[in-house]
Amino acid sequence: MRSPDDKETALEALRARVLPCRKCEHLARSRRTVVFGTGSARAELMFVGEAPGADEDAQGIPFVGKAGQLLTRIIQTMGLSRETVYIANILKCRPDTPGQSSGNRKPTPIEMATCLPHLLAQIDIIQPKVLVALGGTAVEGLMGKMEGITKLRGHWLEFHGIPLMPTYHPAYLLRNQALAEKRKVWEDMLEVMARLGLPISRKQRNFFLRGT
Ligand code: URA
Ligand code: URA
Repeated sequence: MRSPDDKETALEALRARVLPCRKCEHLARSRRTVVFGTGSARAELMFVGEAPGADEDAQGIPFVGKAGQLLTRIIQTMGLSRETVYIANILKCRPDTPGQSSGNRKPTPIEMATCLPHLLAQIDIIQPKVLVALGGTAVEGLMGKMEGITKLRGHWLEFHGIPLMPTYHPAYLLRNQALAEKRKVWEDMLEVMARLGLPISRKQRNFFLRGT
């Protein structure tokens, strides 16, 4: 077990090794930045997304676009902050979209497998108590091909001995504004809070329930 200071040092050393990565030459050519991760090296909770989008590629920080702003609100509603959790993606580079002027594409299995050691090294240093996988692609990147996220969400999995909660990607909640879908993600976050031993207020317990 590393001390908190050792975790910070190790994570910064890892960042320095990952930033010049060119294992996916096509992504290294098209990217503006390598989006390593953000938050605390001593985080007990770590969120894993899919891959950087255009905003993240521009800023070098994960989850700063529209979906990221929703993730930030979810984290704050849990009584936490982006500074106290850790946020990273399966892929550290934005998937290129040759011949396409905008939009995103899903990372390929090869890209995910190539990049996964970087995330594994982050997890190994931080040793979070709980992992949250945001969306089906994040689950696939960690666990390999499984059932769809609709079936998986809300049920604990385990990744390298760490409890892993799969939930919907915040981008899905932006596309589907139904209260019932927000509530599902929120119920998953209540499970996570309980697992972390975080206090849960009545207000938090009742978020996104009809008539509240
Ligand atoms: N979507 C993701 O999966 N990750 C990001 O960093 C931003 C959007
Ligand atoms: N807070 C939000 O804004 N959205 C959720 O889905 C949960 C908490």
